[in-house]
Amino acid sequence: MKGFQLIRCMLFSVFGVFTVNTLAIADTQFVYADAFVNVKNGKLITRPLLEIQDGKIVKITANNRAPLPQNTVDLSGHTLLPGLTDMHVHLTADSQQHGYSGLADSLPRVTLTGAKHAKVTLMAGFTTVRDVGAPGFSDVALRDAINDGDIEGPRMFVSGHALGVTGGHCDNNLLPAEYKVTADGVADGPWGVRKKVRENIKYGATVIKFCATGGVLSKGTKVGVQQYTLEEMQAIVDEAHMRGLIVAAHAHGTDGIVSAIKAGVDSIEHASFLNDEAISLAKKNGTYFSMDVYVTEFILSEGENAGILEESLAKERTVGKKQRDNFRKAVKAGVNMVFGSDAGVYPHGDNAKQFSRMVEFGMTPLQALQAATINSAKLLQQEQLFGSIEEGKMADIVAIKGNPLDDISLLENVVFVMKEGTVYLQPALK
Ligand code: ARG
Repeated sequence: MKGFQLIRCMLFSVFGVFTVNTLAIADTQFVYADAFVNVKNGKLITRPLLEIQDGKIVKITANNRAPLPQNTVDLSGHTLLPGLTDMHVHLTADSQQHGYSGLADSLPRVTLTGAKHAKVTLMAGFTTVRDVGAPGFSDVALRDAINDGDIEGPRMFVSGHALGVTGGHCDNNLLPAEYKVTADGVADGPWGVRKKVRENIKYGATVIKFCATGGVLSKGTKVGVQQYTLEEMQAIVDEAHMRGLIVAAHAHGTDGIVSAIKAGVDSIEHASFLNDEAISLAKKNGTYFSMDVYVTEFILSEGENAGILEESLAKERTVGKKQRDNFRKAVKAGVNMVFGSDAGVYPHGDNAKQFSRMVEFGMTPLQALQAATINSAKLLQQEQLFGSIEEGKMADIVAIKGNPLDDISLLENVVFVMKEGTVYLQPALK
């Protein structure tokens, strides 16, 4: 079948846009737009014509004035950006099922919900995500189904079970002892956690996540309190790094953040109660912060109806503002930052709402864009493959109307999505 390639075309109907699969002769395709953003330096490249083969960008012609080749997606009037990335999602989690309501669904059911969420995430312009904690390797199944072409979704880096101490944030503490419910990621002691890392890798994880402190949405945990010892954290990081996987640590409280950085984790999730020591250690070690500065708005306004426990709402009232103030400090200090939203706690597909908050709380629009593109590609050690629009990289491209460097909230309205050369969303034909 050489010379033929499956591509997706968009049709326009009275109901809006929808996708269909068609066979077409399409060895080489082109994308043209008013401009694209070079996320490395913030420069706008005008009238770019991108030539795409086998899912990769093979040639970029700037200031193109020649007639557009056949097989060009003409995005005149639009700005192109690299596919967006979110380093903290839970695709199998449903924002309307918190607390006890989250106990009702079976593992197969949440996996199917994950398939729906994978698609809306991709349609929102996120071509790569890191899924940091899912039950029963449902995240691995989703990733494999996406890679096999069975369902549509972003490229996924997955953690499998998030590791946690008995009774900690990554355990399930909702039911009394006679139910004997323990989350699958629970492991204690240096050898216990090493074994859990090995199990996660055995069943398909490509990143390791652990809970270094209590959290907001878990029952009976203190959000600011450390939960693994430094020795346990070091064992997790050592085992994961030895096997070539990066490590993400959920950490709100200062002691847990500092210990996790000392243990050598690659990213700190939430990073709410930062102090100067944590910030300077992160700078020294090159640790990334993934700070979910939008989600507090959803939790405090809609969380109660979605089943979030009152004790969690009370914790959020102590965390949200502090986290935003500390986000500003971390940005100012020049810590490596990535975009991580915790979508799943709030609706999937609304990931990009966080961009305007990142700018409101201290980033330039370019920094916010870098956090969601080139910085996460670096964190994932995938910089040669994606994270910017460059010759030789994957054709992960999104388009919006207008210039995101003037108004970052434009990223909430992505109208074109291409992942690895396949078009999933395209503006309605005029
Ligand atoms: N999953 C996190 C936790 O339960 C959510 C924290 C949300 N709050 C925030 N301000 N970022 O701890």
